[in-house]
Amino acid sequence: MDEKIRVGILGAGRAGDGMHGRELKLYPDKFEITAICDIDAERAEMCAEKYQCRSFSDPDAFFKAGGFDLVAVATYSKTHMQYTRQALESGYYTIIEKPIAITYEEAKELLVLDKKFPGKLFCRQNRRFEAAFQHVRELLATGIIGKVHTIKLMRNSFSRRNDWQMLQCNGGGQLNNWGPHLIDHALQFMNYKVQSVWGELKRTAAMGDADDSIKLLMRDFDGLTVDIEIFGGAALPSNAYEIYGSRGALMVDSTEADIKMRYVEPTYELKPYPIIEGHPNGFKFADNATIPWVRQTIMVKPSNGWNMERFYLAVYEAVKGIAPFPIKAEEAVEVTRITAEVRKQNPGF
Ligand SMILES: NC(=O)c1ccc[n+]([C@@H]2O[C@H](COP(=O)([O-])OP(=O)(O)OC[C@H]3O[C@@H](n4cnc5c(N)ncnc54)[C@H](O)[C@@H]3O)[C@@H](O)[C@H]2O)c1
Repeated sequence: MDEKIRVGILGAGRAGDGMHGRELKLYPDKFEITAICDIDAERAEMCAEKYQCRSFSDPDAFFKAGGFDLVAVATYSKTHMQYTRQALESGYYTIIEKPIAITYEEAKELLVLDKKFPGKLFCRQNRRFEAAFQHVRELLATGIIGKVHTIKLMRNSFSRRNDWQMLQCNGGGQLNNWGPHLIDHALQFMNYKVQSVWGELKRTAAMGDADDSIKLLMRDFDGLTVDIEIFGGAALPSNAYEIYGSRGALMVDSTEADIKMRYVEPTYELKPYPIIEGHPNGFKFADNATIPWVRQTIMVKPSNGWNMERFYLAVYEAVKGIAPFPIKAEEAVEVTRITAEVRKQNPGF
């Protein structure tokens, strides 16, 4: 079954055209864009010209006309669930953009739809495929930096953002925008075992009434804290990852090009030392001065070869029965449970 998958894109904006369109074009032997729909007819027509496909400005007419196997829902955030439901009920494979929904209650419907239409739904937590994320996970699994107690995930920038994403009435704000990506990463690191979450939302540089900066602290049941920072008002860059464990640490800067590590030589045993209850030996503690440290910088290159461009390849493999899609609907819904919890803690947003 090596026929191309025919795709209809719903919403021809930065995501629909700029991301889905571009990514689909990376796999010309696997995908063909056959239709594009945007309520802005001019925009739909421009895209249709670019992709040499049919254009629609009425979603109902688009669904009815068909001529595609897969729909990519990339409209405004508040409409994702409604069109995902319509696409699935019309018989199409369906990609739902993040945020899958604005409320947890609404998001839970996705589980019902996923059961009703097995194998048809793909949640676009596309940053799951990021090379640095994959490589960092792989390194932690080797135990090289020991038992991890703190993971800091940061994506900071300075942006006087003033589009629809900055209005609460549109389901905008950073928690719904970049939040789902890093919360998805956090949940993967925590294996979905979340004991508590605390979050603070602010608006620091952008316009509108929605949050542009979020700070989240998530804890598991076994001493791991994940600290997420996505600031829209941070004028200097920060690392993308800082991870601390019982035998070392690793860091990835904002370029996500390489991973810096410092860890105890793996054969060295960190033996317990007795507490000195009398006068201390100055600032000499245990074996601090003699620990055999290893310093290493490696290029980001996960062994599974994943990167952001793999999203559509994974969709293709799932549709063709080659490999299961790695993102489960429950996982995307769990992201929404966390965002709902944080929103409850921040009534102004
Ligand atoms: N996964 C990612 O990395 C990623 C990146 C960017 C945006 N997004 C998501 O994609 C969605 C769109 O964001 P954007 O930045 O592309 O916005 P955008 O404003 O650039 O584009 C949205 C487009 O959808 C059209 N549209 C709105 N309602 C529609 C409807 N009912 N039917 C058809 N078309 C409709 C608009 O006219 C517009 O052209 C958002 O929910 C955003 O969170 C995801």
